[in-house]
Amino acid sequence: MSETLNGPTDKTTDDAARPAEAAARKAVYVKSYGCQMNVYDSQRMADVMGAEGYREVASPEEADLILLNTCHIREKAAEKVYSELGRMRVIKDAARADGRQVLIGVAGCVAQAEGEEIVRRARTVDLVVGPQSYHRLPDLVARAAARPGVVDTEFPVEDKFRHLPDAAEAATRARGLSAFVTVQEGCDKFCTFCVVPYTRGAEVSRPVAQVLDDVEKLARAGVREVSLLGQNVNAYHGEGPDGLDWDLPRLLRRLVEVPGIARLRYTTSHPREMTDALIAAHRDLPELMPYLHLPVQSGSTRVLAAMNRKHSREDYFRIIDRVRAARPDIALSSDFIVGFPGETDADFEDTMDLIRRVGFAAAYSFKYSPRPGTPAAGEEDQLPETLKTERLHALQALITEQQRAFQDSLVGRVMDVLFEKPGRKPGQMVGRSPYLSPVQVIAPSSVAGTIVSVRITGTQTNSLNGVLADAPHMNAVQAAE
Ligand code: SAH
Ligand code: SF4
Ligand code: F3S
Repeated sequence: MSETLNGPTDKTTDDAARPAEAAARKAVYVKSYGCQMNVYDSQRMADVMGAEGYREVASPEEADLILLNTCHIREKAAEKVYSELGRMRVIKDAARADGRQVLIGVAGCVAQAEGEEIVRRARTVDLVVGPQSYHRLPDLVARAAARPGVVDTEFPVEDKFRHLPDAAEAATRARGLSAFVTVQEGCDKFCTFCVVPYTRGAEVSRPVAQVLDDVEKLARAGVREVSLLGQNVNAYHGEGPDGLDWDLPRLLRRLVEVPGIARLRYTTSHPREMTDALIAAHRDLPELMPYLHLPVQSGSTRVLAAMNRKHSREDYFRIIDRVRAARPDIALSSDFIVGFPGETDADFEDTMDLIRRVGFAAAYSFKYSPRPGTPAAGEEDQLPETLKTERLHALQALITEQQRAFQDSLVGRVMDVLFEKPGRKPGQMVGRSPYLSPVQVIAPSSVAGTIVSVRITGTQTNSLNGVLADAPHMNAVQAAE
């Protein structure tokens, strides 16, 4: 997914109970930028350092090791790192004045893209580590402690997942009902605007047995909802237990059999990989949530070709029709880029038309940002910033309208809600709809961790209100509010 899910990973430790012991241990702070893949990787980095005795902390001031897990997708995202490094440097210098060594590491996609350049530009950085090297972090940290300026941006041949601690460990710490599992990483698609194939490398899928093992452990730790992650998750082709390549639909059909797993999602998908088998999985598997993030980027076939997306606007319409025929209650979201080099008014109008025709429940939209080393950045017909801004505003206004229409369309519908925790108001519990929106319901606290049928009664800006569908007395409480 895109950048809306930024922010540090959940930090729950049991250190409060043992303050003296905790203080003696070294501490790591990880801040995550960019996509879900980074959020997941941040947890893995905290885990790998945890195995070395580090505890994870929620503020950089408490840390002996500060890791910034960066994103390179747009210029703004990449530049954020340098301003953040300025802040971290102040913390590091203050610690040094106290006689304490703090190491600063840059991980993630900026690390991969810029490598040595980071150490040159920001001398406060002790360590640069690319996404494929996280399993080597303890060794790199030890080296950086002795001699700052360590850079590891290799794409090693060994499988990093085999060398990282269990994903289930993180889930037990987070005590959540939902978890992410990376099943595929990297991308071979080379869209002309995108850095991912360069920062994450070629497409690699994890073997089915590994994914299954993670999901089974997560389920035993109480997880009910698993989102499978990949830069191109529907291109998944992992080695199955039968020695054959399994595709995503086959993997999904296996994962729904895991006891305790009630909901599955996957993100992010490419339209080119929406196969008949995957669409059939949406028809056949009630556990597969009726929400599909399917980035299209542009509604103009001409621009799509220039982007190297390898499909037309008509192809996209056909896919959407088939998906909706298979799963009529499915909601769609997408990513859009406005102001791609050479995008005309007519091209942009095609994008607006595509949005009107499809009707999205949500979308992320971005101004085209030229990225070093990508083909589109070298195009001559770059658009002025003002025009990009204008188009972005128009597109976002349309999406906001559609988002509201979608939320409103849910009122009166009965849907399953996975309840998580108490809400803000007394007696209220909060859960998630199949469409990812939080739902507030007056309900007993015993619903936590269960899926209950809820009738949606109203909408708020980013959430829904509902009443338990099977308990009329509860409805009365809600009505009396
Ligand atoms: N693999 C996914 C997207 C990964 S990047 C896919 O194929 O759709 C997430 C989103 O960032 C993209 O969908 C795109 O909308 C946006 N993005 C990527 N590169 C960009 C760039 N150079 N400028 C602006 N937006 C970009
Ligand atoms: Fe980037 Fe395109 Fe790959 Fe998505 S499919 S990660 S946009 S190159
Ligand atoms: Fe950003 Fe890298 Fe993800 S560039 S969007 S963090 S794959």
